[in-house]
Amino acid sequence: MNRLKINLKILKKEAKKEIEGAKNLKELDEIFRKYLGEKGELRQILHSLEKISKAKKRRAKIGKEVNELKEFLEEKIKDKRSSLAKVTESKEEWVDITIPGKKPSLGHLHPLTQVKREIEEIFQSMGFSVVEGPEVENEWYNFDALNIPKDHPARDMWDTLWLKDKGAKLLLRAHTSPVQIHYMEKNQPPLRIIVPGSVFRHEATDTRHEFQLYQIEGLMVDKEISVAHLKAILAEFFKRFFGKNTAFRLDPDFFPFTEPSFNVSVTCVICGGKGCNLCKKTGWLEMAGAGMVHPNVLKNSGLNPKEWRGWAFGFGLERLAMMKYKIDDIRLFRSGDLRFLNQF
Ligand code: FA5
Repeated sequence: MNRLKINLKILKKEAKKEIEGAKNLKELDEIFRKYLGEKGELRQILHSLEKISKAKKRRAKIGKEVNELKEFLEEKIKDKRSSLAKVTESKEEWVDITIPGKKPSLGHLHPLTQVKREIEEIFQSMGFSVVEGPEVENEWYNFDALNIPKDHPARDMWDTLWLKDKGAKLLLRAHTSPVQIHYMEKNQPPLRIIVPGSVFRHEATDTRHEFQLYQIEGLMVDKEISVAHLKAILAEFFKRFFGKNTAFRLDPDFFPFTEPSFNVSVTCVICGGKGCNLCKKTGWLEMAGAGMVHPNVLKNSGLNPKEWRGWAFGFGLERLAMMKYKIDDIRLFRSGDLRFLNQF
């Protein structure tokens, strides 16, 4: 029995030391199991008591001591548990404000928006204002005022998307040229504007055609201006936009709202002018239509054609971006493919 008493003393000392030294709740649970669990040391001592002594009185005395030790250890473990829990809690709440923050990943502007802004800046630096116009038009602005008579075959040049409405005959504008009329109606020359905006055409897509595209209209109206001014502005624009002297050419063309009319092409960068599928083996890709504003257009806008002259152009924005960045398929711009978009 004495040995047992000594054992209890040693056990108390050791258990106390272990409880006090527990670093976390997991360690404390293990200590609990070791001493107070089903198969723990105190339980084993109680079992062994039954075998060792038959003297009821003495057994009861030792049993009492074991129970006191059990209560003592339970109390100790309880205290330790609450102090460990406090430490864990305060650790969770602690914020290290010196840790560098996580950088949110930022998107960027669509390549067409980037190109549009660049073009606007170039023309603004040459004294042009940036103007916008409606995407839904009526026949007058999209066709009639631009000198395209009702039954003229020129109307077929633009595959128009008509809106379903009751009689007003509205359409999604097929080009940005109607804004020429809107602007000349409200503003007196001399005028210098560019007009970026979406246009819509009922046509099949391929590597250089989209059914929704951006155009940049240009209009200059003054007293003594000619095709020479148009050509000089185009040369300066190409030089600044492509960053080098880019070969371009004006070929005769037909638009009812300009006379004379041209189409403006640059050397195809995909094949370096040698000829490829994109440029239909010509080595040139059409960028714009252009010409001197037709006297009837000036008249329809309320200006006197004897007093004023003008030139105009209409660029395809996607085509310009294609030649700047060597993109061989126009459909990539609206594909939403991040592998393409993230390159800009
Ligand atoms: C016109 O739209 C005329 N309004 C341009 C103009 C303005 C002429 C002022 C004279 C004076 P056209 O349909 O050719 O013209 O289009 C002009 C440019 O838009 C083309 O040179 C081309 O760069 C681009 N473009 C036209 N259709 C498409 C299309 N389906 N997909 C992509 N780009 C196109």
